[in-house]
Amino acid sequence: MPKRVITYGTFDLFHIGHVRLLQRLASLGDHLTVCVSTDEFNAVKGKKSVIPYEQRAEILSACRYVDAVLPESDWAQKRTDIVEQKIDIFAMGNDWSGKFDDLKDLCEVVYLPRTDDVSTTSLKAYMDALRTEQIGEIKHLIETLNNKAASL
Ligand code: CTP
Repeated sequence: MPKRVITYGTFDLFHIGHVRLLQRLASLGDHLTVCVSTDEFNAVKGKKSVIPYEQRAEILSACRYVDAVLPESDWAQKRTDIVEQKIDIFAMGNDWSGKFDDLKDLCEVVYLPRTDDVSTTSLKAYMDALRTEQIGEIKHLIETLNNKAASL
C-alpha cells in the first residue's frame, strides 16, 4: 500500500529550510499533502505573511516533492484531514515536537529535524535591517544637502 504523508505550515518567503523539510517529508512515503495556512488563519494565529495564500500554495504545488496542496483554515481540521485523505504519517519540523502527539490514535506522528540558521522570521528581520540602513543613508544624504544649501 502506498504511504500517504501530510504536513501543515505557512511557508512564507519560501526558503532552503522549507525545501529540505519537504524533501525529508517526501522520503517518508509515496504521496505528500501540504496544508498551507490561509491568510485568514494566519490572522487568527497573529501572523501576517508577505506572500499571499494563493501564491504560497502555487509555489508549493510547483515543488517536485509535493503531490497535493490544501488550505489550512483552522486548528481543528487535522483530524478530519487525516481521515479524509487516508493519511499514514503526520509530520512536522521538530520546533513542533510533542505538540501533535494527540493525533497518534489516527496515524504515525513524526517530527523531523529543522535546517539551522534560516527561517521566515530571520529573513523578515534581515529585510527590516536593510530598510533601516537605507533610511539612514537617505537621512544622511538629506543632511549633507541641507548643510551644503545653508553654506551657499
Ligand atoms: N522548517 C524547517 N527548517 C527551517 C524552517 C522551517 O524544517 N529552518 C519547517 C518547520 O519546522 C515547519 C515548516 O518548515 O514544519 C513550515 O514552517 P514555517 O513556520 O512556515 O517556516 P519558518 O521559517 O519556521 O517560519 P517562522 O519563522 O514564521 O516561524
